[in-house]
Amino acid sequence: MTPLRTCRVCQGSVRQVLDLGRQPSANAFLPPAAVADEVFFHLAAGVCETCTLLQLMDETPSGLRYRDSYRYEASGSKGAQAHFARVAEHFLAEELTGKDAFIVEIGCNDGVMLDSVARAGVRHLGVEPAKGVAKLAEARGVTITNEFFGPSSAVDIRQLHGAADVIYGANTICSIADITGLMRGVNTLLSADGIFVFEEPYAGTVVTGRAFDQIYDEHVFYFSVRSVMVMAERFGFELVDVDHVAQHGGELRYTLARTGVRTPSPMVEKQRRVEMEADLTDSDMLQRWSTAVHDTRNDLVALLRGLRADGRRIAGYGAPAKATTVTNFCGIGPELLPFVCDSTPGKQGRLMPGSHIPIVSPDAFRDEYPEYVVLFAWNHADEIIAKEQAFRDLGNKWILYVPDVRII
Ligand code: TMP
Ligand code: ZN
Repeated sequence: MTPLRTCRVCQGSVRQVLDLGRQPSANAFLPPAAVADEVFFHLAAGVCETCTLLQLMDETPSGLRYRDSYRYEASGSKGAQAHFARVAEHFLAEELTGKDAFIVEIGCNDGVMLDSVARAGVRHLGVEPAKGVAKLAEARGVTITNEFFGPSSAVDIRQLHGAADVIYGANTICSIADITGLMRGVNTLLSADGIFVFEEPYAGTVVTGRAFDQIYDEHVFYFSVRSVMVMAERFGFELVDVDHVAQHGGELRYTLARTGVRTPSPMVEKQRRVEMEADLTDSDMLQRWSTAVHDTRNDLVALLRGLRADGRRIAGYGAPAKATTVTNFCGIGPELLPFVCDSTPGKQGRLMPGSHIPIVSPDAFRDEYPEYVVLFAWNHADEIIAKEQAFRDLGNKWILYVPDVRII
């Protein structure tokens, strides 16, 4: 029987639609000596039959996720740096214009967005539970509180700093399983005409775009316009704007305001219609999606095994959390991919979670190019392929797997 869970937003029934097997915490990059401490859980996604929200069936405790082994730095690509500088510019020009304006970012990571706000001399606060990245943000001059955001921290922040004109989150809101606590916190902290803006992995990209590797323990929710409208309404808010965001293979940015305070943009209705047509919750369509994701697994494993059998030198490029999902779902370990390279210093010298593929610096990749390289950081393909032009000039090939396995 298909497992069922209760929807974290509307208490409807969540029906499992994709099983990705036994997985570790996706960003827990362990040093080789610590692999015995690794924690695994069952990774599967389901859809709520009432509000349509795509979500994890089971979750890891958030206290397990953002420990010392949490190594994700949000400013790890030029694309991300430029994107978050634009987000900050937009807030500074449109929303933070009043005297003493104040913005709070939930999960500000290394301060990639708030950096520009701090430089502009505007009041801000980054709420970041992961100590390592919070320190990086502080070093850039961003004001930080090292804790999880929730109803009680919202009260403290409001008492200390006053109401926020903007509350923002990027790839963070989807990871807060206690959505009721989150929305109560937002309700406490947001000013009467303020906005709550969040940009997150999009159910359409994950399902229609087959970016199944966005599914990992940190991403409890895969929002859509339809599900966010239901969520907003339950907590006295309204979805007033939607934007497309190119990050992470295609995300949506949602802007919520208190009900009746702002006029919704036509984009909300437009995107809602797009979703109705794609019918992201149709069972047959979701069954086809699951089959396609399993086909991708079979194709990728067959390709890598074939290349190894032919004596080809192969490796991986980028160790994003997405690669944890793919390598563990496919059973790809160091015997198939001897190493992956990643530009994040904190990941180098550590092992990929679960698969234990060693992570090295991109210099090692350049020392002796492998012949075939799986581009795990496929959402940065343009930037990486351009930067590593010499790799291809020598006849070597990239392997991509979203939406299908292909060699370029
Ligand atoms: P993200 O997709 O979650 O932003 O993660 C991208 C990962 O890829 C991150 O660990 C940094 C790594 N990376 C490189 O190693 N080289 C690069 O040129 C880029 C853009 C990213
Ligand atoms: Zn629901």
